[in-house]
Amino acid sequence: MDAEIIKLVNISKVYVSAGGVKTWALRNINLSICRGDFISIMGPSGHGKSTLLYIMGTLEKPTSGKIFIDGEDVILMSDEELSRLRNRKIGFVFQQYNLINRMTVEENLELPAIKLGLPRSERKKLVEEALLKAGCELSWLKKRPIHLSGGQQQRVAIARALVTNPQILLCDEPTGSLDSKSAEVVLDTLKKLNTLGHTVILVTHDKNVASIARKILLIRDGMIVDEKPVTQSG
Ligand SMILES: Nc1ncnc2c1ncn2[C@@H]1O[C@H](COP(=O)(O)OP(=O)(O)OP(=O)(O)O)[C@@H](O)[C@H]1O
Ligand SMILES: [Mg+2]
Repeated sequence: MDAEIIKLVNISKVYVSAGGVKTWALRNINLSICRGDFISIMGPSGHGKSTLLYIMGTLEKPTSGKIFIDGEDVILMSDEELSRLRNRKIGFVFQQYNLINRMTVEENLELPAIKLGLPRSERKKLVEEALLKAGCELSWLKKRPIHLSGGQQQRVAIARALVTNPQILLCDEPTGSLDSKSAEVVLDTLKKLNTLGHTVILVTHDKNVASIARKILLIRDGMIVDEKPVTQSG
């Protein structure tokens, strides 16, 4: 089995505005992420962190370069193939949780399993497993997300990302809207998921948050300018 789960080769991303103004969000990124890695991507606002994460997650297409996810060349894939790949292999966690408030927690969590076409009995099992893995309580299932605290909602969002048991977990500022205590619980959850084997990539502008990973990539002006291991001594 290939040790690299994500490989980016010479990735650039240019956004062009309606007036023709070009923004180079990423410039010639080369990056290999191995199975089981825990990586933080740090850098100032507007320097390309989210763009890099969304390209790794195939939510954005690069302007040039190649991407391999679990050995598969995704540049050549159709939208339908990409969507299938995302459903099976990639879980996303966003700053604003992105849960659907008119649905219960249970209904939110079932959605990714419905997309995979799984029968109800199997969906229920996957939902409960994901919920417990993300440190949520079964009593939350019948609640609506807005009746939970921010930290609880983010753990539900992590559970939703885990329902299909994806190898890769991509998190964009997952603690950006949380107080420090809730943030700590969410970060502990991500750490635990990494020890269970999920490859975790965490975007943040906060050095303390970044240092829960094993390696920090520093991005500036769309380029990776530094890459260093985290020393556990603090
Ligand atoms: N859809 C888009 N259309 C045009 N420009 C965009 C788009 N998305 C991002 N950009 C631009 O690309 C650059 C990188 O943006 P990106 O969102 O990746 O930064 P970021 O590091 O995640 O910032 P933040 O910390 O504020 O979230 C910025 O200049 C941004 O304005
Ligand atoms: Mg961002």
